[in-house]
Amino acid sequence: MKTLISPDYPQLCQAVAQNVIHCVNAKPDALICIAGGDTPLGVFAALVDAQNQGQVDFSRTQFLGLDEWLGLGQSDKGSCREMVWHHFFDKLTLREEQICFFDGLTANPQAECQRVDGYIEQHGPIDCIVLGIGMNGHIGFNEPGASLDNTCHVIDLDEVTQAVSVKYFDTPREVKQGISLGLKTILAAKNIVLMASGEKKAAIVAQTVNHPASRDIPSTLVKTVPQASLYVDNAAARAL
Ligand code: GLP
Repeated sequence: MKTLISPDYPQLCQAVAQNVIHCVNAKPDALICIAGGDTPLGVFAALVDAQNQGQVDFSRTQFLGLDEWLGLGQSDKGSCREMVWHHFFDKLTLREEQICFFDGLTANPQAECQRVDGYIEQHGPIDCIVLGIGMNGHIGFNEPGASLDNTCHVIDLDEVTQAVSVKYFDTPREVKQGISLGLKTILAAKNIVLMASGEKKAAIVAQTVNHPASRDIPSTLVKTVPQASLYVDNAAARAL
């Protein structure tokens, strides 16, 4: 897996943003999937700046959400939907039909999975996906042990993920399940960017690189496909 190390978080975000911009400039109606979470926030800002400066035009681009906490919606600060809209979609002024995102408040999660799978069948495969890495190596909400055959599905969240989740929320939230694209869909993307920042990610980044590909650490599976790259800053690369 090609690894690109940037000196710091702002430069890491610029590098990832350039990758996405390259994809959209080559294919204006590309299907782009970007994770929620803290890691891509600087990428969102760089992409908004790039559009404002005329370096890229997202008016024909399709955007797909990677995952969501089951039970949380747009009005829940810290939900994936709230973060991605607040930091990215609202600033690009996209049309509703340009976005497909999991509804964490759905009364029927299985139907919601089918809806998103149907969208991917129609618009996919994903042209470019930007993934964060969970502290336990999850990608999207594909937790340790996840099946390679999964498309969209509901997941019982790992203890590590539940514990880490408190960083997103102002008030304590019961987040026991997630809804996510599966490994089958993610690994079929034409361009996969695995992104990590900061010293707290150094151990899982080192495991991702050095551990043989295994479902026990889902981020290692990204190494099994040739179209994947790892983008990290110096702090996250510290244990490499
Ligand atoms: C979260 C999200 C993922 C994210 C990952 C890393 O739980 N569900 O989409 O990529 O875990 O999160 P962060 O970037 O906040 O470290």
